[in-house]
Amino acid sequence: MPLRWGGEAARIAVIPGDGIGKEVTPEAVKVIRAATAKAKRPLEFVELDWGADKYLKEGVTLPSGAVEMLRDEFDAILFGALGDPRVPSNQHAADILLGLRFKLDLYVNARPVELLQDRLTPLRDRKEKDIRFMVFRENTEGLYVGMGGFFKKGTADEIAVQEDVNSRKGVERIIRYAYDYARQNGLNRVCMSDKSNAMTYAHDLWQRVFKELKQEYPKIESRHLYIDTLAMEVVRDPSQFEVIVTCNLFGDIVSDLGAQLAGGLGLAPSGNIHPGRTSLFEPVHGSAPNIAGKGIANPFGSVLASAMMLDFLDWKPEAQVLREGVRSALKESFVTPDLGGMKQTVEVGDWLAKYAEKSL
Ligand SMILES: NC(=O)c1ccc[n+]([C@@H]2O[C@H](COP(=O)([O-])OP(=O)(O)OC[C@H]3O[C@@H](n4cnc5c(N)ncnc54)[C@H](O)[C@@H]3O)[C@@H](O)[C@H]2O)c1
Repeated sequence: MPLRWGGEAARIAVIPGDGIGKEVTPEAVKVIRAATAKAKRPLEFVELDWGADKYLKEGVTLPSGAVEMLRDEFDAILFGALGDPRVPSNQHAADILLGLRFKLDLYVNARPVELLQDRLTPLRDRKEKDIRFMVFRENTEGLYVGMGGFFKKGTADEIAVQEDVNSRKGVERIIRYAYDYARQNGLNRVCMSDKSNAMTYAHDLWQRVFKELKQEYPKIESRHLYIDTLAMEVVRDPSQFEVIVTCNLFGDIVSDLGAQLAGGLGLAPSGNIHPGRTSLFEPVHGSAPNIAGKGIANPFGSVLASAMMLDFLDWKPEAQVLREGVRSALKESFVTPDLGGMKQTVEVGDWLAKYAEKSL
């Protein structure tokens, strides 16, 4: 992955957002600080208060100039979650999160699925070694671009249209990223998934690009599955997958399916990446209004997203410390209620920070 940071300081924008985003993100920052305390390269955090509170108070979602500031002055963004029952339209979340994905052109949504402890999977007789794959979801196109409209809205004859937008450039760069990732990480299998039997234009493009690109990676086993078959196969035998690449909507769904196979949303991290540019890292979960304010949110997803961020910034040993910390906390059952424990978010954060200090 090309990087522009070799050896320099890193500046990180922290956007905790709403609900449990505000609870887990400070814990992740605490753990990163502990893991990087003795590193030679400085790490600077700047917190930004974008979210429902600001929107309700000031009417501001993504402030003007925000994208340029993030692009020019920061190396990465650590993001919590957005979503608040007081904003039923979810306008602020769409503007901020989708806005950043599109405007920073974060075309790779990387969602690792990794079972960290056998007991966490709902699949019978599956072990850690069976559930370890990476989902690459196209992150800037597809059904998420918001192109469409209503006709005769609110009448019995209403029609709603939502366009699925796929560009040659967009499809090619995400499939190529998946292959390059496999090659760089010694992985042998890439599976592209689409619905080209039904989506005969948009996913015909995926088919053609895939057929072309796979010739460039002859040592990697290339496979295609329709998305419905992929969903079945991921549950039947997840061990057959190493790298999955797919479009925006299918990637959203299949990675949540994967998150459940690996222990639930509380553990799942993700990266929104444009190689060599400011990229955004976040837990997969949302703002969880049902548990927000209770201090019981699981911070592992945010800490593992932070590990992905440190990897991206080329702080590899520190990233490893974060991952080992989460594994050790699981082993000791020092976990929040969603994983069967009794610990509070802050207690788990403190435990991980101590683990990181001891590992230095
Ligand atoms: N990236 C994002 O910011 C993002 C992603 C998904 C949903 N959302 C938003 O979040 C709000 C709530 O959505 P939802 O309820 O469908 O999804 P959610 O991920 O917030 O919660 C789903 C379920 O998982 C549980 N859960 C999630 N994260 C957890 C954690 N860290 N620890 C323990 N339990 C956890 C919740 O308590 C809830 O029962 C909505 O406004 C939605 O739009 C935002």
